[in-house]
Amino acid sequence: MKPLPRKWTRAGLKAMDSVRPAKGAPVTGKKDPGAGNGDKPAAVRRMFGAIAGRYDAMNRLMTLGQDQKWRRMAIAQAGLSRGARLLDVGAGTGGLCLAALTRDEHARVTAVDFTEAMIAGGRQRLAGRPIAWCAADALHLPFADARFDAVVSGYLLRNVADIHQALAEQARVVKPGGRVVILDTCPPAKGVFHPLVMAHLCWVVPMLGRIVTGDRDAYTYLPQSTMGFLQPAQMVAAMRAAGLLPVRHRRLMFGTVAIHVGQRPEGGQ
Ligand SMILES: C[S@@+](CC[C@H](N)C(=O)[O-])C[C@H]1O[C@@H](n2cnc3c(N)ncnc32)[C@H](O)[C@@H]1O
Repeated sequence: MKPLPRKWTRAGLKAMDSVRPAKGAPVTGKKDPGAGNGDKPAAVRRMFGAIAGRYDAMNRLMTLGQDQKWRRMAIAQAGLSRGARLLDVGAGTGGLCLAALTRDEHARVTAVDFTEAMIAGGRQRLAGRPIAWCAADALHLPFADARFDAVVSGYLLRNVADIHQALAEQARVVKPGGRVVILDTCPPAKGVFHPLVMAHLCWVVPMLGRIVTGDRDAYTYLPQSTMGFLQPAQMVAAMRAAGLLPVRHRRLMFGTVAIHVGQRPEGGQ
């Protein structure tokens, strides 16, 4: 298995930094939206069940088509060799699975999600693609240790009730030397575009969500959960706490989206 390079290899990814978390940087507590929330899984499942049919259209619209590019970037960071075994956790309608199979048609892809309507949408959209769909909880993955060459997730971790448990599961099922790649939104970085970004996130997205999906709540939840989610440095710390080392990340889209890449050490338990 290839080691995680010191720098991202693709041109244009030079801006990625390897963050050493500040001493004592919190990885739990108020910033963790799921901490101690027993009702969250049911609410999340209901919400995605309600918007499943328009989920992809809404993604395209609110990111101006960038979301597919980010998925391709995330898959590129998984470091997969031909025919590798990939797990997509919280796969939804299979956007990351499709990016993986477009990159390597021989990839052996397993897609896990706990919302039946999202899986049904994915099965329909990607009919004929060699994907093993699996209804399961990201906090209790039904796979043996070290089963996959890489594990990816897109916009999952903001939604789980226990980020640390989800990361521990991903670290458990990836092979030693394999990578865990996380694509998710994050609280926007401060900067000249911050007011515009906040207006897009807190006003434009809920409005588009209401028009496109008929569900304003789901797209009010998106900015709320994004603002309450871990900062990239905190995510680095959480991934390290799950035993992934080294961990690197890069922010995208005015700092509202981040890709984190961690590696399970060779010889890890
Ligand atoms: C925002 S969607 C992302 C879908 C897809 N990964 C993508 O890139 O578009 C989040 C998905 O995570 C799933 N999810 C949330 N919590 C989960 C959990 N604990 N176990 C399994 N799936 C979960 C939801 O059902 C939903 O389909």
